Amino acid sequence: MANVTVIGAQWGDEGKGKIVDWLASRADVVVRFQGGHNAGHTLVVGDQVYKLSLLPSGIVTGTLSIIGNGVVLDPWALKAEIEKLTTQGVDINTENFALADNCPLILPLHRDLDGLRETAAGTGKIGTTGRGIGPAYEDKVGRRALRVCDLAHLDAMDAQLDRLCAHHDALRAGFGQPPVDRVALIAELREIAPFVLQFAQPVWKRLKKVRKAGARILFEGAQGVLLDVDHGTYPFVTSSNTVSGTAASGSGLGPAATGFVLGIVKAYTTRVGSGPFPTELEDEMGQRLGERGHEFGTVTGRKRRCGWFDAVLVRQSCAISGVTGIALTKLDVLDGFEKVRICTGYRLHGKVLDYFPSHSADQAAVEPIYEEIDGWVGTTAGARSWADLPAQAIKYIQRVQELIETPVALISTSPEREDTILVRDPFVD
Ligand code: GDP
Ligand code: IMO
Ligand code: MG
Repeated sequence: MANVTVIGAQWGDEGKGKIVDWLASRADVVVRFQGGHNAGHTLVVGDQVYKLSLLPSGIVTGTLSIIGNGVVLDPWALKAEIEKLTTQGVDINTENFALADNCPLILPLHRDLDGLRETAAGTGKIGTTGRGIGPAYEDKVGRRALRVCDLAHLDAMDAQLDRLCAHHDALRAGFGQPPVDRVALIAELREIAPFVLQFAQPVWKRLKKVRKAGARILFEGAQGVLLDVDHGTYPFVTSSNTVSGTAASGSGLGPAATGFVLGIVKAYTTRVGSGPFPTELEDEMGQRLGERGHEFGTVTGRKRRCGWFDAVLVRQSCAISGVTGIALTKLDVLDGFEKVRICTGYRLHGKVLDYFPSHSADQAAVEPIYEEIDGWVGTTAGARSWADLPAQAIKYIQRVQELIETPVALISTSPEREDTILVRDPFVD
C-alpha cells in the first residue's frame, strides 16, 4: 500500500495541518517525525477549531497517531495539549496515541537558553518560537539529552545529570544565571513521568507491525524545507531536518516507506521570524495578503511577513525534498487581486540566477524577477472541484506547476476540511 509524506515546501504555515487532517481519514496511522511544539497547525472542522503543536493532526479524526523519535518532546506541553483537546471532545488514549521512548526531552533549561540567546542576540536574533527547540536538538547530538525512556529511571540519573549540567551551568554562568536546580528538575520530571510513560514505547516496532498488516502511513512534517537546518536559509532556520527523507530516520522505518511526497505550498509566500525573503511585500499589498490570509502565527501570535509566490524557492524545495506532487493552499486569499505576481528568477550583482544561493548575504541581496498575470473575477473560496474555479485561477495554477516542475495533486480553497479539490489521490499508486 502507498504511504504519503507531507512536508512544507516554503517557510512553514503552508496549511499542512489542514491537509493532513483531510488525508487522515484515508490513512491508518499518522506519524510526526521531526520538530517539536514550535509547530502550530490549525484545523477547522465545521464550527470547531483545533490548534495542534505537538500531536499529529490525525488525532482529531481518531486515527492512530504516533510521535516518532525524531521529535523533541516537551512533556508539559504534551500534557497541556492533550488536556486542551480532550476538552474539545477529542479522545486521546493509549490505543490511538503512542510516543517513541527514545525521543529527546525538551526541559525548562532548554527554554531558558533559547530565550537568553535570543535576547542577547538583539537585532541578530533568529526569531525562534522560544520553545527550547534548538538547545534540545543540540543536546541530542551532543549526547547529553535526557530521553523519554529516562523517565522510568529517575533514581539512577546522576551521571547523566552531571554531563548535562556541566554543559548548561557553564552556559548559564555566561549569561549571569544560576546553575540548574537539579533537585527541582528531578522533582518536576518525577511528577510528569507517569503521564508520559503511559504512551511510551518502541514505536518502530508498532510501525513495523502495522506496515506488515498493510496499513497506510501518513507522515506529517512540521515547518518547511526553507527552515531545514541543512537546506534552508541558514542560520535563520529551525534545528531539525524538515525534508521528506527525515520521515524514515525520525520514525524508525526505512526510506522506501516514505511513499508519495506531498509538498504543501501556499499560493503566495509567508515567513515568521528573521531571515531573507526575496518577494516580501512591505507595502499595502503585503498588508492585504496578511489580512485576507489571517497571517498570524498559531504558536506565538506573531504577524507573518507576506509576499508574492516565489517559484524559484518552491522549485528548489521540491527538488531537494523529492516532492511527487503539491497541495496548493490558500488560493482563495488571492481572490479579488487585479494582478498577481510570480517570481521566476533572481538578479544578483547583474547576473540572473535560477536558484537560491547558499550564502546568507547573497540570499539577502537577490532581487526577484517577476512575471505578472491578471487576477480572476469571481471567487475560488470554498470550491470543491475544478469546475468551480474561474478560468484565470486555473491559469495561475497551471503556471505555478509549470514553473516549479511539479504537478498539483490537491488544491485547498478555505480553512474548512472539506473545501479541498482532489486532482490526484496521493494514496493511489
Ligand atoms: P501549518 O503550520 O502548515 O499547518 O499551517 P498553519 O495552520 O500554521 O497556517 C495555515 C492557516 O491557513 C490556518 O489558519 C488554516 O486554517 C488556514 N488555511 C489552510 N488552508 C487554507 C485555505 O485553503 N484557505 C484559507 N483561506 N485558509 C487556509
Ligand atoms: P509549522 O509546523 C513557521 C521558525 C521560527 C524561527 C525559526 C527557528 O507551523 O509550519 P525554532 O523555534 O524552531 O528554533 O525557530 O523557525 N519556525 C516556524 N515558522 N512555521 C513553523 O512551524 C515554525 N517552526 C519554527 O519562527 O524563524
Ligand atoms: Mg503553522
